Amino acid sequence: MEIRIRFEKHGQGHVFQYWDELGSEEQASLLEQAEEIDLDELDRLINTLVKATEAHSEINYDVLEPAPYERIPEGLANDARWQAAKEAGEAALRSGRVAAFTVAGGQGTRLGYDGPKGTFPISPIKHKPLFQLFAEKIMAARRRFQCDLPWFIMTSNVNHDTTAAFFAENDFFGLGGESVRFFRQGRMPAVDLEGCILMESKSAIAMSPDGHGGSMRALDRSGALDEMESRGIDLLSYFQVDNPHVQVVDPCFIGFHALSGTSMSSKMLPKAYEKEKLGHFCISGDRLEVVEYSDMPDRLTALRDESGALKFIAGSIAIHIVSVDFVRKLTNEASALALPFHKALKKIPYLNTSGELVRPTEANGVKFETFVFDALPFAGEAVIVESTRLGDFSPVKNAEGLDSPESCQADQQRLFAQWLMAEGVELDLDETGVPIHKLEVSPLFGYDAESFSESWKRFGEAVDFSKDVYLGDF
Ligand code: UD1
Repeated sequence: MEIRIRFEKHGQGHVFQYWDELGSEEQASLLEQAEEIDLDELDRLINTLVKATEAHSEINYDVLEPAPYERIPEGLANDARWQAAKEAGEAALRSGRVAAFTVAGGQGTRLGYDGPKGTFPISPIKHKPLFQLFAEKIMAARRRFQCDLPWFIMTSNVNHDTTAAFFAENDFFGLGGESVRFFRQGRMPAVDLEGCILMESKSAIAMSPDGHGGSMRALDRSGALDEMESRGIDLLSYFQVDNPHVQVVDPCFIGFHALSGTSMSSKMLPKAYEKEKLGHFCISGDRLEVVEYSDMPDRLTALRDESGALKFIAGSIAIHIVSVDFVRKLTNEASALALPFHKALKKIPYLNTSGELVRPTEANGVKFETFVFDALPFAGEAVIVESTRLGDFSPVKNAEGLDSPESCQADQQRLFAQWLMAEGVELDLDETGVPIHKLEVSPLFGYDAESFSESWKRFGEAVDFSKDVYLGDF
C-alpha cells in the first residue's frame, strides 16, 4: 500500500501497526485520516517545534513596542472621522458586501460542557444559547440595513454534526436555512515528545482541530469563498463563538476597515490588569503582531507609561474584519503566505505499544494550531480600533470565576441596565452595577444603545422593574 510505505519512510509506520486486525470500515476510516496528513509539513513541524532544543521564537522581545490604535474619541457622536466610518460601514452593510463569520470549531474543554459551545445557554432569563443570541443580532441587522447578511460558521469534526442538527431543530432561529452555512475546519495529528504520531485507537489517529487560523484554508476548501465572491461579499465580520457580547456587525469598525484600504482590521480593549489573558497588539520592527498572553514576558506586561497606564495595553478580543480577497491570497499556495503553526503541550490519551489506551496525567504530546491573528503582519496597514468592554466583550471560557457563565450573565445585565438608565429609567443595582431584579433584552429589541433607545421610545409601555423583566421582539 503506497500510503503505508510513505508513512514508514517518514518514521510513522506504526500508524498502520494494527491494519490486519481492522475491519473494512475501520480500515477506510484510518486511510481517510492518514490521507489528510501532509507528512512533509509534519516533519518540518516536528523538527522546528518538537525536537528543536532551543525555544524557537520569531519575536524579538527587545524591540517590541505597543501598536498604535484608533481611540474612542470624547464626543463620538460629533467626531467627523468616526461618523464617516459609521456611514461607510452602514453603506457596506446595505449593499450586501458583508457576511458574519463565527469560528466555532474549538473543543471548549475549559468550560467542561458536553456539546458545541454555541449551544450553551447563556442569557440571564430566557437561557438562550450563544448561537441564538448571534442569530438574533444578525436578524436585527438584516432588518435595520435591509440586507441578506449571510452567516458562515466554522465547525470541526468534533462538533459539526451536532451543530448543524441544533440549528435544524431550532428552525435556524428564523434566519432561513439557506442563509446559514456550516463548514468544517481541517485537522492535525498530535505527536508525542519524540515526534511519533499518537494513536487514539487501533484505527484512529489522535487528530484535533488545526486552530482558528485553519479558518482561512477551510473557507477556501469548502467553497465558501467562491460562494461569497459570487454573491458580491467582500468583507467578513469575524468573531469567536465564546463571546455573546460581540456586535456581530459594527458599522464603525467595518467603515474604518473599508476606508483604510487594509486587508484585515482588529478590535482592541485596554487591558483591565497586567495578566489579563488577552493577546497583545505589538509592533516588532515594522510588523504588527499579536503576542499571546502566554508568550508575553512578565517584565513587558508589567511596564507602565508616564501616566501609570500599562505600556502594552492593547488587548485582542478576537474580533476582526477580513477582506475576502485577502483570504484568497493567504490560501493561494503560490503566494507563500502560510500562517505559522504553534505548538500546545497537552495531555493526550494514546494507545501504548501493547495496544492499551493510556490517559496521561502529565503533558505527553503536542498539538499543532495556527492562529488567525498571525495574518495581521501580511495585511498591509492593519487598523486597530478601540471598543468598550460591555459593548463587545464578555466571553464564556471557564466553568467558574473569570470569563464564566456567571460573570457573563452579570455583564449582560450591566449593559442592559446602562441602556435603560440612559433613557431615564431608575433601577435598583447591587454594588457591582448588576440590577437586583433580573433583566434581559433580546437583540431584536435592542443590540446597542442606539437601537435600544429607538425601540424603547416606540415601545412606550409602562414596565414594572420591581420584578424580573424581559424585553423581547415586539
Ligand atoms: C483567544 C486568543 C486571545 C484572545 C482571546 C479573547 C488564541 C490563541 N488566543 O484566547 O489572543 O485575547 O481569545 O477571548 O486564539 N477555535 C476554533 N478552532 C480551533 C481552535 C479554536 O474554531 O481549532 C475557536 C473556538 O471555538 C473559540 C475561539 O477559536 O471560538 C478561541 O479559542 P480558544 O483556544 O478558546 O482561545 P483563548 O485561549 O480563549
